[in-house]
Amino acid sequence: MSGRYLVNFDSRRLPQESWDLVVLGSGIAGLYTAHAAGRRGWRVVVLTKHGVEDSSTDRAQGGIAAALGSSDSPELHYQDTIAAGAGLCDRDAVRVLVNEGPERVRELMEMGARFDRENGRLALTREGAHSRRRILHAAGDATGAEIQRVLSLAVRQLPGVEVRENHFAVDLLVHEGRCYGVLALAGERLKVFWGRAVVLATGGLGQLFEVSTNPEVATGDGMAMAYRAGAELMDMEFVQFHPTVLSLPGAPPFLISEAVRGEGAILRNARGERFMPRYHRLAELAPRDVVVRAILAEMEQTGVPHVYLDLSHLDPEAVRQRFPNITRTCAAYGLDITKDLLPVAPAAHYMMGGVKTNLHGETSIEGLYACGEVACQGVHGANRLASNSLLDGLVFGGRIVERVAGSPAGPARRPEFSCRELEEAPPLDVGDLRRRLKRVMSRHVGPVRDARGLEEALSFFAQWSFLEKHQAAGVEEMELRNMLLVGQLVAQAALLRTESRGGHYRLDYPAPRDIWLKHIILRR
Ligand code: SIN
Repeated sequence: MSGRYLVNFDSRRLPQESWDLVVLGSGIAGLYTAHAAGRRGWRVVVLTKHGVEDSSTDRAQGGIAAALGSSDSPELHYQDTIAAGAGLCDRDAVRVLVNEGPERVRELMEMGARFDRENGRLALTREGAHSRRRILHAAGDATGAEIQRVLSLAVRQLPGVEVRENHFAVDLLVHEGRCYGVLALAGERLKVFWGRAVVLATGGLGQLFEVSTNPEVATGDGMAMAYRAGAELMDMEFVQFHPTVLSLPGAPPFLISEAVRGEGAILRNARGERFMPRYHRLAELAPRDVVVRAILAEMEQTGVPHVYLDLSHLDPEAVRQRFPNITRTCAAYGLDITKDLLPVAPAAHYMMGGVKTNLHGETSIEGLYACGEVACQGVHGANRLASNSLLDGLVFGGRIVERVAGSPAGPARRPEFSCRELEEAPPLDVGDLRRRLKRVMSRHVGPVRDARGLEEALSFFAQWSFLEKHQAAGVEEMELRNMLLVGQLVAQAALLRTESRGGHYRLDYPAPRDIWLKHIILRR
């Protein structure tokens, strides 16, 4: 059965641990789920492949959307989310998100999250495609870091919860449609973690592209692992690119929050002209996919590999106060954000698709749950509304714990698991292949696609399919194998969807088509 596991192993010969819940990943979704379970007195282990704070959550700037403002309502939040999702949102999932979101955010505040306030009230900002100011933020533009801080602390205070860093989840242990646990690499050693339930909260796949806002750890591991184990994946063609990432030689692809445009910043092309009003009535606050394509078009027309973000007309003191992190980082690269034009370009940012779940986080495999970016219950449709992702992790993470609590415990006897047939790991220049993969994904599976390019991408992946017969040696090679698998799935789904919708744009099919008002589900 080549392609099922990444390594040979025999569960009987490996060290083993048993837990109520095994959570993979330590961003908002993983930590909130672990906390909700720990509060019930469950024994929970959180496995995270690097440090606990190496997550997309920790980097999130703009904030977390929730209908908490006096002129706002869950209904308005619902309408904005549905409109951004370009016809593919699951309406029930969106209802759950917008109705339960405010309560989850209040809970975060009770746990100690300090969101910014103005005159004693929550300071709410606006971002693209939101009809109201509804984005909570913390320390100006360090919202994710505040949430990560609070959840990391809260989880560590629960006696039943343990966080294990440098634990790389390799493969899921699934027998006859039920998940029993996880095979993980703990440092150098393989180990088995059994759980009554396993929760995937491993985040996204931005590292499949040359330029991404995501941390190094975002290599699509959870999606790859779930696919190998036979779970269904949905909407894999929908990758969101963020329009404004600092594009300066020698600087990292640092996100310049959409909230900057929410506060009035303007996009200009290399000729200094404001261009967004020509593309959409909401101008700079149009849905992200629209802004991304407009920027790419302007870059092509001017022959300059970036456009500019202009904040020079805004009150400098207010800008510095509202965006201290962006001010500091840009200053380190010689840019004064209150005066200078900031060179920006799009970068891979968020995966709308992922492991298919229902509204309770249940995947197509019993005992296996998913939440946060790795999951896809259809709440974001073809294009996520800004600042809905942190909320998604909270809401659906919490629902998983309720569902597990109400489910019967699995069979008392666990099967044994093994894999013996994989050949030795072949010599592989992992760094070189990773770079080639990123180049192929960026050229052919990025924000603008066509059949020829997608077929080229698929033939690149086919060239490496022989690796399935071999063991993967070490974490870097395992990540690479996951990237090869998930990249192929994104390209496959993108080739199948012969239309343009939300984050998926096909030059050869530039319009949406009603026959495609449906989801693509992939299964091994
Ligand atoms: C941003 O601050 O622009 C990112 C927010 C998001 O992706 O939801």
